[in-house]
Amino acid sequence: MTDTRPTLLTGAAGILGRWLRPRLIEKYGALRSSDVVEFAPALPGEEIVVADLADAEAVDRLVNGVGRIIHFGGISFETTFDRILASNIAGTYNVFEAARRHNAGPVVYSSSNHAIGFYTRDDRLDASVTQRPDSLYGVSKAFGEDLASFFADKYGMDIACLRIGTARPDPIDPRHLSTWQSYEDLLRMIEACFAAPELGCTILYGVSNNDRSWWSNHLAPHVDYHPQDNAETFAAKLIPDGDKRDFTDPAVKYQGGPFVSDGYAPRRR
Ligand SMILES: NC(=O)c1ccc[n+]([C@@H]2O[C@H](COP(=O)([O-])OP(=O)(O)OC[C@H]3O[C@@H](n4cnc5c(N)ncnc54)[C@H](O)[C@@H]3O)[C@@H](O)[C@H]2O)c1
Repeated sequence: MTDTRPTLLTGAAGILGRWLRPRLIEKYGALRSSDVVEFAPALPGEEIVVADLADAEAVDRLVNGVGRIIHFGGISFETTFDRILASNIAGTYNVFEAARRHNAGPVVYSSSNHAIGFYTRDDRLDASVTQRPDSLYGVSKAFGEDLASFFADKYGMDIACLRIGTARPDPIDPRHLSTWQSYEDLLRMIEACFAAPELGCTILYGVSNNDRSWWSNHLAPHVDYHPQDNAETFAAKLIPDGDKRDFTDPAVKYQGGPFVSDGYAPRRR
């Protein structure tokens, strides 16, 4: 049965949120858009709610009455543990817990490739691999995935965790030849998640149909995702003389790229 309750989008003032807002309204109708920062104007069919995800009571009010949830709010870069703890760890708990209390969902949650960033570019991954976060940010996304697993198993909730690679209009770096997901493919993935008969806790790699992809979604056949874009279209522009990067550089060697090399200082054994 079609859910006529409004859809909730967190992180609505962010880069992906701003692109998604009109498209979600077109697809699903009424949208409740939220962020910790003010943004305006509201689009036709949109209600804007300013709320801090770390504030459990505010999140409870935010989630009350909605159906589908797209939880994209949170800190999207490496920073101090305190900030990540509040926005990503407590924030994601607050969203999932409010969704449980109010019988809201399914939930599409923006995890990240940085939950598995310490795999190397030679590794080929599916959803069964152990997490290998490359940053405190990545740890918070791994936590969000574990939390999704818990809420799915314990309370029967449906939560898709998208390990988004690099969602942007075009790939602009050789690494993106493997990690890019076009905005249109991201939207296709969200729609496929909401169309799935059941999600439980489903881990998906948010990636286009890239020739050089490191990731496979073969363990999620119940999500009918057919990406239409391929970063290879940009290869001649990005690496006109072939890929000449230093493959021993941690930012190149590991899938997480610059999130790995940032502060990388392994102890000598
Ligand atoms: N863009 C990508 O390529 C990519 C890749 C992997 C994962 N992701 C994830 O997807 C989501 C959206 O990405 P984006 O590129 O739009 O990021 P973004 O930083 O542009 O947007 C995130 C939004 O969350 C909001 N936010 C942060 N802390 C908050 C809090 N405590 N309460 C309420 N709102 C808060 C911010 O104000 C911001 O508007 C993020 O969770 C990010 O980690 C994005």
